[in-house]
Amino acid sequence: MTGNNQFPSSSSNSTGVNFFLIGFMGSGKTYWGKKWAAANQLDFIDLDDVIEKNAGKTIVEIFETGGEAWFRELEAAALRECAFLQNTIIACGGGAPCFFDNMQWMNAHGITIYLSATPEQLRDRVFLEREKRPLFNNLQDAAVLDFIRKKLQERKAIYNTARLVVQTDRLTENSFQEFISPNS
Ligand code: S3P
Repeated sequence: MTGNNQFPSSSSNSTGVNFFLIGFMGSGKTYWGKKWAAANQLDFIDLDDVIEKNAGKTIVEIFETGGEAWFRELEAAALRECAFLQNTIIACGGGAPCFFDNMQWMNAHGITIYLSATPEQLRDRVFLEREKRPLFNNLQDAAVLDFIRKKLQERKAIYNTARLVVQTDRLTENSFQEFISPNS
């Protein structure tokens, strides 16, 4: 695990602090977010679910009706609703940190944790649920890895401004407890 800052020793599951999980599609933000929230008496939300609820449309329908630009506006607005939350792990869509000043906003309103994975690991995981992710539309199987490499390269610099950077192949149910431990 690497960090851009000393983790505050006051951060625990009862201080009101929110945690933003960021990273590419397929990095396991929702999977780990749910597990860690349950194990640490925290709430969990998936930002994509909030966007869908607010719009009354699925992510795929939002992209179809208003394109990516509309989706990014809805995403930025949903993110700012998180200012009213406490003690919550928020799984953010893969692009969320990379638009507007979303990443700065997250760093100012909670602890950001980047789940970092290789393009190959991401490819293996996104293949399972590709149809839910409009950015993969019209991509032949063979083109998926190249797409991930290119997009990850574009996004990496922003992802790496997270408070904590963790490798996904080393994560366990106890990892979150280790992150919030004052000695980590
Ligand atoms: C996106 C990631 C998706 C979703 C949308 C766009 C992206 O979320 O927000 O399809 O730009 O990387 P997940 O990372 O949860 O799949």
